[in-house]
Amino acid sequence: MTPFSKKRNLCAAALLGIAAALAAGPQTVKPGEVWPDDRGQHVQAHGGGIIRLGDTYYWFGEDRSQGLDPARRYVACYSSKDLAHWTFRNQIMKQADPGDLGARFVLERPKVFYNAKTRKYIMYMHIDDARYALARVGVAVSDTVDGDYKFLRSFRPLGQESRDIGQFIDDDGAAYLIFEDRPAKGFHIARLSDDYLDVEKDVCLIHAPLEGGAVVHYKGLYYAVGSALTGWNPNPNKYATAERLEGPWSEFKDIAPPETRTYGSQSTMLLKVVGSKTTAVIFMGDVWKPRTQWDSRYLWMPVEIGDGKLWLPEPREWTLDVATGEAR
Ligand code: DGJ
Repeated sequence: MTPFSKKRNLCAAALLGIAAALAAGPQTVKPGEVWPDDRGQHVQAHGGGIIRLGDTYYWFGEDRSQGLDPARRYVACYSSKDLAHWTFRNQIMKQADPGDLGARFVLERPKVFYNAKTRKYIMYMHIDDARYALARVGVAVSDTVDGDYKFLRSFRPLGQESRDIGQFIDDDGAAYLIFEDRPAKGFHIARLSDDYLDVEKDVCLIHAPLEGGAVVHYKGLYYAVGSALTGWNPNPNKYATAERLEGPWSEFKDIAPPETRTYGSQSTMLLKVVGSKTTAVIFMGDVWKPRTQWDSRYLWMPVEIGDGKLWLPEPREWTLDVATGEAR
């Protein structure tokens, strides 16, 4: 980096910092673009998850920055008060091969849950070997939200194969792990144990060969979204609804014109933002760039949702006011 470009980056970071400090009212989200953090670097939180603690949102995801040690897998944590300006907090995992999985082991789609009883932060993640044959979840724990998470163990939840995982926290605070089960041709929604360190109870197995599973509870209905099994390539993501998490679940329908292949993205989470005026549901998708993973982008859009229908509008710049819940 030349001294000039370094200075320019610092100026950009300072401006972003000021913008973040002033952030109130509607904030702009630009789907598919580079999203600079407070340091001016593209956010590295791929295949991620978001939790809200007090008035702050925390975003955790795969850190695929260039120049990292290829023998390790990294998870980063960012915070924001408006879901538009992100502050880098820490590289919360720098995980070496946690077993005997080989140099090309996989750590993907990290999700963090806060357990109010134990006051611990529990991270779930997909752990695999290079062939994706192991199909396990890993669990790590930290005393602070952006601390250095300690890897505890990996296992097959409820004894089943588990690849892509998702997280769902219901309105009553109950925490669920969503995991794709290839032999069963579906994905599970499973309740975590009291301490969140284990996957305790299968609430339902949704019979649809989908990954990237995401669930939201909106106006008395559960909506589940998933993506077909096409590796890094986008496909038409689909949704189903149910009155109870246990099901029965409706048939799956497209969330967007199928020819757009979800506008080049893959589902990772449905984030509900409850404001003083209204509630927004944001589709969080990854736009993967398998050969330049560090440059993978984020397609976030508020969905049109209600009465059993969910639709992802064509991506364009939009604004979100987290205080009122208004997304335009
Ligand atoms: C699709 C999954 O959703 C991603 O997380 C990743 O595992 C890729 N497949 C690997 O091909």
